[in-house]
Amino acid sequence: MNPKEISEGIFWVGAIDWEERDFHNFQTLRGLTYNSYLILDEKKVLIDAVKHKFVSEQLERSSKLVDPKEIEYIVVNHIEPDHASGLADLLRVAKNATVICSQKGKEGLCKFFECKDWNFMVVKNGDTLKIGKRTLMFLDMTMLHWPDSIATYVVEDKILFSNDAFGQHVASEERFAEDLGVEEALKWAKLYYANILMPLATLIKKKLEELKGVEVRLIAPSHGVAWRNPKVIVESYARWAEFKAENKVVVVYDTMWGSTEKLARAIAEGASKNAKVRLFHVRKDSWTEIVTEILDAKAVAVGAPTIHNSVFPPVAGFLSYLKSLKPKNKKALAFGSYGWNGVAVKEIAKALEELGFETQQFAVKFRPTKEELQRAYELGAELSK
Ligand code: FEO
Repeated sequence: MNPKEISEGIFWVGAIDWEERDFHNFQTLRGLTYNSYLILDEKKVLIDAVKHKFVSEQLERSSKLVDPKEIEYIVVNHIEPDHASGLADLLRVAKNATVICSQKGKEGLCKFFECKDWNFMVVKNGDTLKIGKRTLMFLDMTMLHWPDSIATYVVEDKILFSNDAFGQHVASEERFAEDLGVEEALKWAKLYYANILMPLATLIKKKLEELKGVEVRLIAPSHGVAWRNPKVIVESYARWAEFKAENKVVVVYDTMWGSTEKLARAIAEGASKNAKVRLFHVRKDSWTEIVTEILDAKAVAVGAPTIHNSVFPPVAGFLSYLKSLKPKNKKALAFGSYGWNGVAVKEIAKALEELGFETQQFAVKFRPTKEELQRAYELGAELSK
């Protein structure tokens, strides 16, 4: 396992997790990476640790460049365990390193680890550190993705180590979007944004404004590939944070005896009159993919049967996930079949309305008749307008 030079004197020394398929419920369909970067200057600086079980991989790559005992600083841009759970093991080898992080980062690390013997350098937004011919500048990234988050900017090289922001969950040998394929990288970046960062849209817009004042040649996040043309990903973030939508209707449903499914299909067919349609079954399809499609859809239809005077549980669970991600600016339809009361449709509508979606309801007793299927088709067509 070798380091990869990403810029003169700056190397990727991270780890590739080819096998992981579940990142706290985010389906990592093609694995992920925990990126770490080693800067060789008068001072040797490691940007970010990695997940605990990959520390040996990080050390093997790093040791080909420098004896880990010579690492003087380890920047912890973010304390979430996918990055920082390997820190204690790393510090047992890089014994002389000072940990650089935010105040909240320090407080968090000392909850995760016994840290009384560690050397810390706590930094604030705009603080700098000269490491030889290079200067590191630390930028506040509060809530991108946790309250502790910072980014590290290498002033002379114009490289932004952005940690979670601009990342993607995809395992690859390629280290640049241009090598993986920009469209491919954007596809994974959108999945990441939708499932991890969507609820932070307002903050992201503000942060993008602030970053306009920083000249960046390369964005190197902590997951996935780096962006040699930062404009591509920055503009995509701006679009996603605005919830810019396309003519697309996403239909999401579950079914007990096929009636809600019939409605879902009729709605989807009707919607296809004027828009692109995506139809998902909540127990068979990936929630990670469903919410990514919802991010830039103009309309969403959610359907479930009523069971035990409530919403069919898989749909209730999905709605809870959707609500936590706070999508915005959509029209909606709540639909479903029921036996003796239509509670599910009312509850689905309530959840969608709480998201600010203008929502219609369509509930059908037992099996939909031909006329009711025609009505579902028309509601789909209406939604697509
Ligand atoms: Fe990649 Fe918020 O951790």
